[in-house]
Amino acid sequence: MKIKTGEFVISNADYKTCPAPRMAEYAFIGRSNVGKSSLINALVNHKNLAKTSRRPGKTQLINHFIINNEWYLVDLPGFGYAKVPKAIRAEFHDMISEYLLNRTNLMCLFVLIDARHKPQAIDQEFMHWLAEKGIAFVMVFTKADKLGKVELAKNIGSYKVEMKKTWDELPQIFITSAEKKIGTTEISTFIKNLNPQFKEII
Ligand code: GTP
Ligand code: MG
Repeated sequence: MKIKTGEFVISNADYKTCPAPRMAEYAFIGRSNVGKSSLINALVNHKNLAKTSRRPGKTQLINHFIINNEWYLVDLPGFGYAKVPKAIRAEFHDMISEYLLNRTNLMCLFVLIDARHKPQAIDQEFMHWLAEKGIAFVMVFTKADKLGKVELAKNIGSYKVEMKKTWDELPQIFITSAEKKIGTTEISTFIKNLNPQFKEII
């Protein structure tokens, strides 16, 4: 699918004030600094549509972007950023979990994981929570450009081995780099194939 247009719509702290759920929606989530905003920009081919930063904790609200006037991409705040005060962390947590549990047009959640890291408890616990709540998700490894080919394959291989210890079936996996535009076509094709199912759930 060709992404022709991408426009910022609105930022919200509450799912209740998000745009009416009349179009298919896909949201990006993951630890702070994993590259959510950057991957959205790479997909849409727009350098500064979603705000990125070297400092973790840049995205703090639920940000809606409309793509091709047909579907929404959503940039969510990162979780697990230790420097955010506890009270604010709890607020973030509520904002995100309420959004995930109540957003009826959410077709699939993209859970981003840095390709360089070993499985982290926070990501694993989060994905188990998604499975328990029946929230559809896929996994996206990010920053693939930061590793050599062999190292990347090795890391992802051992990540899968580790996950198989607690998962009967692994979620679908994408390997991406926002920097080198790796995996963006695969993600937009995945979205294109899922979009027609939207009618069936409303
Ligand atoms: P928060 O909004 O703070 O949760 O972060 P985020 O997950 O949206 O991360 P963001 O896209 O802001 O990127 C964080 C940093 O990682 C920035 O300095 C990006 O330039 C860098 N980055 C993101 N994606 C890639 C990538 O694919 N390759 C490389 N080399 N750097 C990346
Ligand atoms: Mg961000």
